[in-house]
Amino acid sequence: MHKRTFIKSGILGIFAFLLPKKARSLEYYPMPSDKKWAVLYCTGCGSARDAAIWISEGMDGIANVFDVRENPDLSQYDHIVIGGAIRGGKTSQELQDYVAGNKETLKRKIRGYFAVC
Ligand SMILES: Cc1cc2nc3c(=O)[nH]c(=O)nc-3n(C[C@H](O)[C@H](O)[C@H](O)COP(=O)(O)O)c2cc1C
Repeated sequence: MHKRTFIKSGILGIFAFLLPKKARSLEYYPMPSDKKWAVLYCTGCGSARDAAIWISEGMDGIANVFDVRENPDLSQYDHIVIGGAIRGGKTSQELQDYVAGNKETLKRKIRGYFAVC
């Protein structure tokens, strides 16, 4: 590979990582709906993420799906499902901290829980 081609490819690669948040592959794209549903999950190895997406798919894909590590702002959602992987008999500390820190936002909006174990 020529040096110039190598440099061009490298620059293009760097810009690909700077794509807007919406274009990132892990972003979940819900189906359009006037109902504002969100599924929030915590995962260690990915099974709980799969489960969260299956839950949304079971709802015709209308629920947006969030990893708790993104610290999502769920204030714009009216209905929320929360769950995740169980390790050592409980969910992750991140999820526990998120729920404790967002009680006001989550209060009266939680429609279901799930656990992957
Ligand atoms: C270190 C460790 C601890 C676990 N502890 C429990 C547990 O206490 N109870 C349970 O039912 N499952 C337990 N599991 C099983 C996980 O819940 C299961 O593997 C789950 O699919 C992990 O989800 P994840 O892929 O989203 O991390 C444990 C798994 C690991 C690796």
